[in-house]
Amino acid sequence: IQISDNWPGYSLDLFTYPQHYYGDLEYVLIPHGIIVDRTERLAKDIVQDIGDNDIVVLCVLKGGYKFCADLVEHIKNLSRNSERFISMKVDFVRLKSYHNDQSMQDMQIMGGDDLSKLTGKDIVGTGRTMKVLLNTIEKYKPKMIKVASLLVKRTSRPDGYRPDYYGFEIPDLFVVGYALDYNEHFRDLNHICVINDHGKAKYRV
Ligand code: IMP
Ligand code: MG
Repeated sequence: IQISDNWPGYSLDLFTYPQHYYGDLEYVLIPHGIIVDRTERLAKDIVQDIGDNDIVVLCVLKGGYKFCADLVEHIKNLSRNSERFISMKVDFVRLKSYHNDQSMQDMQIMGGDDLSKLTGKDIVGTGRTMKVLLNTIEKYKPKMIKVASLLVKRTSRPDGYRPDYYGFEIPDLFVVGYALDYNEHFRDLNHICVINDHGKAKYRV
């Protein structure tokens, strides 16, 4: 799903969201329900493509945890209600590269022991993070690696990475919610929203 640069989003007044974020957000870019519905379709596409292989889901924390959990849940439902039983393992890695809303050069990868056939990720911004992670995973020579990311950002940068599956292509905006954070805040917001200047200043570190 393409969200165009001039998409005004939805007014925050049309939805509910935590009171502690009143005044900190500009608008709702993607409501929670649409995120879940789109993720259900990604799950269907993945199940169709995966064939008879088992899946090791590698969830990229922290921002990918909501997407990963919902994706796994949908894959489980599909598997349970079909002839083909898909066995799934889940593992987690933690990546950290952002300070305020700027992508940092140095990237840390922490955790993850069993790598991997499929990765579940929150957002591909510049694509730098994903490339570092994929280089690490490829050393384990998995049979197949597929990357699923909820969001892909239209950045002007040339090293744009394209995941195998993605939910939405969004403008080059800093977004929060659905586990995506701004300095660890806004993960507890259901919708994907655009933060306003007041919110940025309030939670700047
Ligand atoms: P990249 O290296 O620029 O692709 O950034 C990837 C990581 O940065 C993602 O996994 C997110 O955790 C974080 N990130 C990038 N853009 C955003 C955003 O708009 N909001 C919140 N986190 C972001
Ligand atoms: Mg973050």
